[in-house]
Amino acid sequence: MSELDLEIEREVQRRRTFAIISHPDAGKTTLTEKLLLFGGCIDVAGAVRGRKSQRGARSDWLELEKQRGISVSSTVLTFEFEGHQVNLLDTPGHHDFSEDTYRTLMAADCAVMVIDLAKGIETQTEKLFRVCALRGIPVITFVNKADRPGRSPLAILAEIETKFGIDAIPRNWPLGTGADFTGVIDVEARVAHVFDERDANRRIAYRSVPLDELAAAGEHGAEIVTGALEDVELLEAAGIPFERERFLAGRLTPVFFGSALTNFGVEHFLRGFLELCPSPQARQSDVGRIAPARPQFAGFVFKIQANLDPRHRDRIAFVRVCAGRFRRDMEVLHARTGKTLRLRRAHRVFGQERETMDEAFPGDIIGLVNPGEFRLGDTICEGTAVNFEPLPQFSPENFAVLRCRDSARRKQFHRGLEQLLEEGAIQAFSDARAARREPLLAAVGELQFDVVRFRLESEYDTATDIEWLPYKLTRWIDADPNQLRELRLPYSAKFVRDQIGHPAVLFQSKWDAELAERDNPDVRFMPVRMTSAPVDSSGQPTPAW
Ligand code: G4P
Repeated sequence: MSELDLEIEREVQRRRTFAIISHPDAGKTTLTEKLLLFGGCIDVAGAVRGRKSQRGARSDWLELEKQRGISVSSTVLTFEFEGHQVNLLDTPGHHDFSEDTYRTLMAADCAVMVIDLAKGIETQTEKLFRVCALRGIPVITFVNKADRPGRSPLAILAEIETKFGIDAIPRNWPLGTGADFTGVIDVEARVAHVFDERDANRRIAYRSVPLDELAAAGEHGAEIVTGALEDVELLEAAGIPFERERFLAGRLTPVFFGSALTNFGVEHFLRGFLELCPSPQARQSDVGRIAPARPQFAGFVFKIQANLDPRHRDRIAFVRVCAGRFRRDMEVLHARTGKTLRLRRAHRVFGQERETMDEAFPGDIIGLVNPGEFRLGDTICEGTAVNFEPLPQFSPENFAVLRCRDSARRKQFHRGLEQLLEEGAIQAFSDARAARREPLLAAVGELQFDVVRFRLESEYDTATDIEWLPYKLTRWIDADPNQLRELRLPYSAKFVRDQIGHPAVLFQSKWDAELAERDNPDVRFMPVRMTSAPVDSSGQPTPAW
């Protein structure tokens, strides 16, 4: 092995790249802060921007959009902890930005699912979990707010198992919940870690007491100890083993209990997480699986953000490194176009801050100042061309037509829209059978339209009017030209092509979609498009209009 091979191997082994998924309010921001606190990135908890109080209302959000804050542009938060480099891919908390979140999950090796002990699994968590399941991303669960009265921990495990059909295996168990939450029990080691102080801005001191001595120690209410020990006995009797292979395949989730706010259990969670979260793994490509330790660099674009810094008016393409070593100024092959590019301007982006990045390894995220070459899902690599798996596109639930108010600004309107489409800020369809190709815009979240209109106005000086359309879902279709011609659709549905030319149908209800499936038994209707972009001779994706 060469010196370089060894270095890549070493760096891969110490990297942990993950994203947090949760329903708004479950405590993702608070947990992120506490993790950064352990990593020494921030001095005082409360320093991470984009908290609920700032992003809840729409007007607040637009204010935040003006600031181009961290909650809008999900980037990566990096910290070191006990020899590991942890890359936390920040995802926007608001559910309306879920497409962005979905794509970010494609760049992660593992997801942490934060659940509120009182509320259990909520809608957004469920949606995001399904995305992880679709890609087989392993999920670690953190049941938060154990310091508040909530459901019984056993009930939470049962809910995970029945809703998601996977095993939930506790890695620790709360010693009491609500006001009684005083420690966590390491089930495997049969040790209770009893917290000593309640300073949420610091690492919490704790004492470790063997489980058998816990009752004798007599410092905790007898009921709390008995209750926790009974639960632990029950779990041991159930005897479901933790199997790493099943966890990595997404069929089992290890569960930790804690309280991000009071910091109880966060350190135990972090250590458990570092042990469980896989280091960057081989990724599927069109030439087979590509191991992270291969010496030639390879990575893919999972996010594009324009005008991140209004002073520069530039665009940043975020690349997840999947193999080899990245060096600034290196030459790479842009697999889609076959062009050779020199990567001159590479940055580490932390919210609004940027610093030059000279080197990166698998698991890392590089922000490349984008000369306009990159599209979402593009692969860049050294050596012969490879293409990583395409990024999926999810069925939008909101549809509308945007019209430029001032016809003199049509050019700017189209340029702006094109750029926002490239970023994946919104999707576009065109009526496949209409002569006039006005784009039908679509988004998973309604607020995405506000973002697009706001950005068209602020970045391209183009005011727009919106006309909502009655469609509620999209199904992409796999069919040959004959089948497409003979497609039988309900009157209220519309046959369209998406922005890369893939055929699809917009439906006004789930019922309509089911009817179409029954009427066209040989055609596949898909709620997610997994295929990559067809390109024209210039290497550009075919536009929708
Ligand atoms: P999110 O990013 O998932 O949306 O949640 P966030 O961390 O903003 O937390 C939502 C609310 O829950 C916040 O309170 C936060 O302080 C509280 N919280 C988070 N973790 C815990 C915990 O372990 N225990 C308890 N008791 N509360 C917790 P807020 O008052 O709604 O917002 P803020 O004003 O503190 O931002």
